Amino acid sequence: MDTFVIEGGRRLSGRVRINGSKNAALPLLAASLLTDQPVKLREVPNLADIKNLIRLLGELGCRRTDEPADGSFGDGTVTMHSVDESLSHARYEIVRTMRASICTLGPMLARRGFAQISLPGGCAIGERPVDLHLRGLAALGAQITVNGGDIIAKVPSGGLVGNTIFLGGPFGSTVLGTANVMSAATLAKGVTTIESAACEPEIVDLANMLNKMGAKITGQGSPRLVIEGVSELGGCDHRVIPDRIEAGTYMMAAAVTNGDIVLENCPVDALLSAMHYLDTVGVHVEACNPVAATSPQKSAHRGCEDPMRCCVRVTSDRILHPVEVTTQPHPGFPTDLQAQLMTVLALADGNSVITEKIFPDRFLHVAELSRMGAKLIRHGPTVVISGVRRLVGAPVMASDLRASAGLVLAGLAAEGRTIINRVYHLDRGYDRMEDRLRALGAVIQRVDEKEVAEVAVPG
Ligand code: EPU
Repeated sequence: MDTFVIEGGRRLSGRVRINGSKNAALPLLAASLLTDQPVKLREVPNLADIKNLIRLLGELGCRRTDEPADGSFGDGTVTMHSVDESLSHARYEIVRTMRASICTLGPMLARRGFAQISLPGGCAIGERPVDLHLRGLAALGAQITVNGGDIIAKVPSGGLVGNTIFLGGPFGSTVLGTANVMSAATLAKGVTTIESAACEPEIVDLANMLNKMGAKITGQGSPRLVIEGVSELGGCDHRVIPDRIEAGTYMMAAAVTNGDIVLENCPVDALLSAMHYLDTVGVHVEACNPVAATSPQKSAHRGCEDPMRCCVRVTSDRILHPVEVTTQPHPGFPTDLQAQLMTVLALADGNSVITEKIFPDRFLHVAELSRMGAKLIRHGPTVVISGVRRLVGAPVMASDLRASAGLVLAGLAAEGRTIINRVYHLDRGYDRMEDRLRALGAVIQRVDEKEVAEVAVPG
């Protein structure tokens, strides 16, 4: 198994280009099941989760038509073409490797009238039920049963029919649940209104692509989505939005190393809450080429011309200030940056509080950060963080994708050597993170766990 060996304490500086968003690309890829025409996506990130979904789509009769002959992932352009609509079973063997496989349910059901998909189990960040997905699809008329661990969903003879659906749950809206119900409703008869829809930028991107395919969706980005059903959808050519979580993670890498990093292709419009808290902490995020204040194009967001593909420079003060943060659905502070922010606050000058309102058990990084000298006390969904002057390198265990990112940041900031085991978690969401950090001046290596002892300490 791969392991990262990090020699901490280096100040990061330089430029990094933000990749296409994983969590946008997954439902966009699944939406290719909604049509028999090719769907071309650009800037798809080269990640384990993406490759798993492409493999699953292949098993569902939707093939990638532009796979490079050398078997590599290619330049990020991925064209999917649904050519065999008789295959509608997403097997446990694939679904268990990636919960996001559930985003094939709505598209398969709507286009093929039938879908069988293994019920995703819980994962390291919590229980993760799919009851809201099923409730929303049932409201469109789908007949849903669970048998042998599989969700079996059928469309009755009259087809799916639009409805008004409240999709909120105990933790607010659901991102992939909204993606599933919205996708299915594009081919339902009549109008569907989704109330308490997820407002995440990834849902906006999906709605925009579905509209390019011929859907009639309005309200994306707000909690009320209105979808007027159409009889069929066509193909399209679509560029995936940049990854706000990857961007936020590199911003925080600048924060913990007192660094100076320029992020290209940065979706600042999708990061306003994170940037607000970083501001409070003492991290500065400024547009590289601000549009003149008098320009009619000037957006409200740090003067960037295109606030979803901006160039920003991130620098931090030597002293980080404490802050109180609660994770919330978008536009609140994202749960996917909670672990990374905890590392930043572990080094702040005072006491901070983080409350996790989306996945109340998403705290596996707490014990690992404590091994590096962080002072953390957890009470249920809340962690009190008493800032320390320094973290100290230690062997730690990655447990899930974002917890791993938090540990990498801690390793970059810590004195001495940090060894992070099980970095396959990180590879699910960050493309070649070690190469990109090295280009920014970090001392980080990927080695097999058996070779860790042989890695020399740099002079
Ligand atoms: N929930 C329910 N019932 C449901 C669905 C969700 O109670 O039927 C609850 C969840 O247990 C959770 C909350 O609602 O407490 C929100 O979950 P949501 O459905 O929004 O999560 P998701 O769609 O499964 C996506 C991202 C996650 C991200 C969450 C929250 C993808 C592929 N995954 O998951 O990303 O944390 O939204 O923003 O888009 C990650 O990238 O590391 C990651 C975990």
